[in-house]
Amino acid sequence: MPDPVRVLVTGAAGQIGYSLVPLIARGHLLGPDQPVILHLLDIPAAVQSLEGLEMELLDGAFPLLRGIVATTDILHGAAGVKVAVMLGGFPRKEGMERKDVMAKNVTIYKTQATALEAHADNDVKVVVVANPANTNALILKEHAPKIPSKNITCLTRLDHNRAVAQIAHRAGLPVPNVRNVIIWGNHSSTQYPDVNHGIVKTLDGSKKPIREVIKDDAWLNGDFIKTVQQRGAEVIRLRKFSSALSAANAVCDHVYNWVRGTPEGQWVSMGVSSDGSYGVPVGLMFSFPVKTRKGEWEIVKGLKIDAFSKEKLDATTAELVEEKALADSIIKGSSQ
Ligand code: NAD
Ligand code: LMR
Repeated sequence: MPDPVRVLVTGAAGQIGYSLVPLIARGHLLGPDQPVILHLLDIPAAVQSLEGLEMELLDGAFPLLRGIVATTDILHGAAGVKVAVMLGGFPRKEGMERKDVMAKNVTIYKTQATALEAHADNDVKVVVVANPANTNALILKEHAPKIPSKNITCLTRLDHNRAVAQIAHRAGLPVPNVRNVIIWGNHSSTQYPDVNHGIVKTLDGSKKPIREVIKDDAWLNGDFIKTVQQRGAEVIRLRKFSSALSAANAVCDHVYNWVRGTPEGQWVSMGVSSDGSYGVPVGLMFSFPVKTRKGEWEIVKGLKIDAFSKEKLDATTAELVEEKALADSIIKGSSQ
């Protein structure tokens, strides 16, 4: 067995944390052959929950779990970690827009960026989950210039999985038969779930474009997009809390594919720093289709973007540009 890898989970005492840490301890993040040491970080007000979580993890007797560091000190929490899952922050409540939580969260990400840069492994892989996920990741990237920018990502895999599940359900096929959907842009209601390049493996084994199998463009261009865009808000409406189980599952999918690769011919959606592909401003944290190999992601290039898609890409880009400006002004204001 390889040496254990240190994995930081910030906001570990929260909802997603409670679903996520047993998955990590079971090998769903880094693989069934990779021991882990879990670093669990939360704020002092949550210290008892953190202690209870640590007890439950011990009681789980997970074979891959080789140690737990439970702390309220980010410097301690960040020490030597190779993977950092950033859940910590203020969650969106019913009726709140994501922008409302921005002011609460960008300052946290600035501080934690500095700690990660100074204390984490030089090649730490970061996935930001806490909302606004793209912009928090951007703030983290800008305030941790020594961490390679390709190592800082945000979670849009939950949206990707939601899109896959909707298509699979509509086509009456198992989820693994649906491939290469794309989430473009922001993890918000402006995201663009795009099926134009997606493929379905039918029950007779043939591969067909999604639009050939689901011959309902009105649904694919309408309710399908809306359902995926609004899914997070809908879960909040029903549960009164934001998605946790599905978010934890998506974190594992995101990191597992990043570290262990995507299957031949397939891609997934990840929020990554734009290299200018598809006209997205360089450096913006944007969800793209990516292929991964040996711990590196690469944006899938050259996909044809029709006028309908272009309009949607432009809208989500504009929102991210606006969020960045707002975040910059909050940070500027807080440092004056
Ligand atoms: P939660 O409120 O249950 O947990 C958040 C935890 O973060 C709490 O335990 C809180 O004490 C802790 N925290 C607050 N400030 C912190 C700090 N400075 N350092 C460390 N920990 C801190 O929220 P949750 O339901 O677990 O969701 C976490 C975040 O993920 C929220 O921002 C939510 O909106 C977001 N989210 C994103 C996605 C996605 O797909 N990107 C999906 C679901 C939820
Ligand atoms: C989700 O997509 O479920 C969450 O990001 C919703 C939210 O705003 O917390």
